Order: sequence, then C-alpha cells, then structure tokens
Amino acid sequence: MVPIFLLFLFCFPFNAGARCFRSFKKLQLPAVGSESYAFDSHNVGPYTGLSDGRIVKYQGPETGFVEFATTSANRSKELCDGTDGNDLKLTETCGRALGMEFDHKTGELYLVDAVYGLMVVGSGGGLATQLAGGKDGERFDEADALDIDPNTGEIYIGDLGTLLHKTNNLTEILLSEERTGRLLKYDPKTKKLTVLLKGLALAAGVAVSKDGSFVLVGEYIACRITRYWLKGPKATTSEIFVELPGNPDNIKRTKSGDFWVAVNIQRLQPKPSCFALGQKIGADGQILETVNFYAEYNATSVAEVQEHHGLMYLSSTNANFAGVYEVLKCSDKPVQV
Ligand SMILES: *[C@@H]1O[C@H](CO)[C@@H](O)[C@H](O)[C@H]1NC(C)=O
Ligand SMILES: *[C@@H]1O[C@H](CO)[C@@H](O)[C@H](O)[C@H]1NC(C)=O
Ligand SMILES: *[C@@H]1O[C@H](CO)[C@@H](O)[C@H](O)[C@H]1NC(C)=O
Repeated sequence: MVPIFLLFLFCFPFNAGARCFRSFKKLQLPAVGSESYAFDSHNVGPYTGLSDGRIVKYQGPETGFVEFATTSANRSKELCDGTDGNDLKLTETCGRALGMEFDHKTGELYLVDAVYGLMVVGSGGGLATQLAGGKDGERFDEADALDIDPNTGEIYIGDLGTLLHKTNNLTEILLSEERTGRLLKYDPKTKKLTVLLKGLALAAGVAVSKDGSFVLVGEYIACRITRYWLKGPKATTSEIFVELPGNPDNIKRTKSGDFWVAVNIQRLQPKPSCFALGQKIGADGQILETVNFYAEYNATSVAEVQEHHGLMYLSSTNANFAGVYEVLKCSDKPVQV
C-alpha cells in the first residue's frame, strides 16, 4: 500500500509548529455517528447526536453515555436504536441531530437536525422543539452546523445545500461544481431567520469569533473557510479566510479565540483514500498547529476537533466512539520531515 501520510507531506508542505506527544482514549458510544459535541454550563459532556437519532450525554467512565434528547416525535426505540442512518426514510422517523451548542445563559441546547432543522431542548432533555426549517416555512436543505454568539445569543447555521440529496457518491461530491450551501442567522429574540451568504460549496462548519465581529463558514468541497464580517467597516462582506490542504468539516472556537478545524485529506487516485488532520487557526487566518490523526484514525474521517478543559475531543460520523487526546509533552522544535 502507498504510505499516504508520506504522500501528503510531500504534496502539501506546511509548518507543523510545535511537536506534541499525546495520549489517546476512546469513549464508547451506544451507536455510530457522532458529528459534533457540546458541553453544558456544569462542564458535563460531551453531548452528541448519533446516526440513530438519539442525543446522548457522557456522564463519566462509570456510567458512560446516557440518552438525553430526541428530535422526532415519531421516533420509536424498537425501530431506531442502533441504526446507522443510511436509510433516509427511517431517518425521517428517527431524526438526526448534527451541529449543537449550549446557550450558557439559558442552559438550553440548540441544535440542527438534518430533517427537522433548527431545534432547542431544555437542560432536562426530552423531545426537542422545532424553531425553524423542516418541511414548513423557511426551510433548510440540510442544516449541518451551528454556533451561538456567546455575547448576543444569536445563532449561526451552516446549510449544506442540495448536493447530498442528489448523491452520496464521494467522487461525485468532491468533484461537484454545485454551490447551493448557505450561511444563515437566527435571532431567538425576534425568531427571525436571515440568509447571510448563498452559493457556498457545502457549508459544513460554522463558528463565530470570540469578539463577535465575524463568523466563519467552511466550504467542504472548495477546501477553504470563508469569513463573513458582522461588524466594522467590512460588515456584510465576505472574503476567503484560509485555504486548507483538505476538506474542512466542523470549526470550533477555543477559549482563547483560535479555531480548530477538522480537515479530511481525501484522494480519489490511485484509489480512494482518506486521513484526517486537526488544524488550529488564529483569528487572523494563520495556521498555528497541525495534528495528524492517522495513527489512531487511519482511514476514518473526522467531523470535529474541539478543545475542552485541556483535552481534545474528536467526533467521527463513521465511528462508534468519541476520541479524546491529552497532550503529554510538547517540544518547540518543529517536526523534521
Ligand atoms: C409522524 O406521525 C404523524 C402521525 O402519525 C404523521 O402524520 C407524520 O407524517 C409522521 N412523520 C414522519 C416524519 O414520519
Ligand atoms: C461514483 O461516481 C464515479 C464517477 O461518476 C463512478 O466512476 C463510480 O463508479 C461511482 N461509485 C459508486 C460506488 O457508485
Ligand atoms: C487502514 O485503512 C486501510 C484502507 O481502508 C486498510 O486497508 C488498512 O488495513 C487499515 N490499517 C489499519 C492498521 O487498520
């Protein structure tokens, strides 16, 4: 087999920054499909949505993950629990929560569901309430990513567009010229949904800056992140924020205001292959750190990289575990390639 990691280093040279040694462990999930993580105001978590429609929360190594919420009123445990989400009709019945984040002022969990759009569920869990999208009114094609401005409570949503309704063939997706992704904003005070940007190349990730001056939106098939200005002289305009060596999925802001992006390096030639990186990007668009997950994830794609309390949490829609990395030791010497 071609050592794809060598091929990668050869094709996309970059400054890898400090070299860190990390330990890795897996938190077993009750089903596959974690896409994004959220932690509540008491730092309990991660909470995550599974392919079978359940939203679960982690309650420590003794208890593991327990059921917290669901998104479809029609969901039945017998029919749905443990399913892989590949049957689209069944997904309508079971629900499919993707991007999620807590509003830490109200304790509510906001989420986007592939079928039911923007929803909210109280801190006690249960059945989520639809706020926008789904089949009636202003709808999403496939809402996938969500972030909340911690200062204003305004919600930003990445809508993938219609491409994944037409094909699930990765070759066709990666080569597609379709640009139907959108960036939207929902204001919980006025209950108004506004389209900020259209024509995006699969808007798979979204994150607001720490100061609320801009919002980032990932364009998966264009291998880049676009910045939309919310405030200042460039307000309402957009520009390319950073170009990446692969396909960006979720974007997560760190406490200090940088961003982690899950970047999947996917090759179609000589045969389809994939491996994942995490890239830390400063608020100025500079790539600060690159972590290669090949040793632990091999060919499994990664949907999110999130820093929380000194640990790094990785989600993957193809895995039945949550990955957790802990930095053991870093040296300032850059990696010698
Ligand atoms: C849920 O059940 C109701 C009542 O049986 C039905 O009208 C509706 O179509 C169902 N929705 C889905 C998504 O299955
Ligand atoms: C995916 O699409 C490509 C290009 O159209 C085609 O060559 C390939 O056979 C398809 N793969 C599958 C599994 O359908
Ligand atoms: C890594 O993935 C490739 C492609 O799916 C597979 O052939 C190989 O056996 C995997 N290696 C390990 C160590 O799992």
